Amino acid sequence: MGARLAGIGTSLPEKVLTNDDLAQMMDTSDEWIRERTGIRERRIGLPTSSLGIESGRAAIDMAGLDPTDIDLLILSTTTPDQRVPGTAAVIHAELGLDCGAFDLNAACAGFTYGWVVAHSMLDAPGGPRRVLLVGADALSPITDWEDRGTAILFSDGGGAVVLEHTDDDTLLGWDLGADGNHRRLLMGDHDSKITMEGREVFKVAVRAVTGSVLTALDRAGMGPGDVDVLLPHQANIRIIEAICKRTGIPFERSYNTIEHTGNNSSGTIPLAMAKAHAEGALQPGAIVVMTGFGAGMSWATTVSRW
Ligand code: COA
Repeated sequence: MGARLAGIGTSLPEKVLTNDDLAQMMDTSDEWIRERTGIRERRIGLPTSSLGIESGRAAIDMAGLDPTDIDLLILSTTTPDQRVPGTAAVIHAELGLDCGAFDLNAACAGFTYGWVVAHSMLDAPGGPRRVLLVGADALSPITDWEDRGTAILFSDGGGAVVLEHTDDDTLLGWDLGADGNHRRLLMGDHDSKITMEGREVFKVAVRAVTGSVLTALDRAGMGPGDVDVLLPHQANIRIIEAICKRTGIPFERSYNTIEHTGNNSSGTIPLAMAKAHAEGALQPGAIVVMTGFGAGMSWATTVSRW
């Protein structure tokens, strides 16, 4: 399956919430949060639609396209603005798109799931030539700001890419996984806040992602040493370190934004991708591995040749 990145954009709310701010609200400290998670501050204050509109517009502009050139919008989110309709409809209208649009919910694995879905659509006979794939989440409205086990982690943010069909093979290997038996470890019911068993989520995530990365690399006929750029979901820097150690991918190859953005679910991987892009790491031919995990539990890994 083949697609090339024609444009990328990001969106973060202006409001910064530091660890010291949180320490005023609950029994925690900057030192504890930094040591256990790698987070110093996070951004909060925009709904999913605004994050998707801003990042989507930037990605289309960078691609030098008109919104009507987009053939399909996929919004990966677990925090739609409303129950009905899907938030893709809001982004679709505000950007002036003229194509199909739908929401995809695989929680924090959503952008990576969306990457595979977008490639499949671009590869389908008669399918779209250009897909706008947005990953955006506003977790702050469903975060319990009195729960130090979750409030220190979650945030709002998003990113978007324009993917264009190419005849080259660029998606070399992938793995999509889920285990619904773990669905209660991380959940939020209608009209209630997120609850999480942090220690269990940590363990399941490290195990699942390690297996998923090695499976996807194997399917691509590659090993950890072939990876030039790792774009991991930004949930906890200790999880990323553990994944690198267990898979054998050097930590230095990972691009991380968690220190300043926290965990904004579907938004974290496109934000990390934008960082890698800005630093010149996404060179033609580079082997780029994306890996996400989250509520469900669900997880996904892709191996792409840039
Ligand atoms: N500030 C200070 N102390 C805290 C604290 C906080 N914010 N949160 C928990 N503690 C305390 C606990 O009460 C416990 O104290 P005790 O030993 O006296 O009982 C101690 O710190 C250790 O708690 P524990 O829950 O074992 O900490 P941890 O090292 O597992 O870190 C998380 C907690 C939430 C940071 C960590 O489990 C984590 O990141 N899990 C994965 C979550 C995740 O990735 N979620 C998103 C998936 S997409």
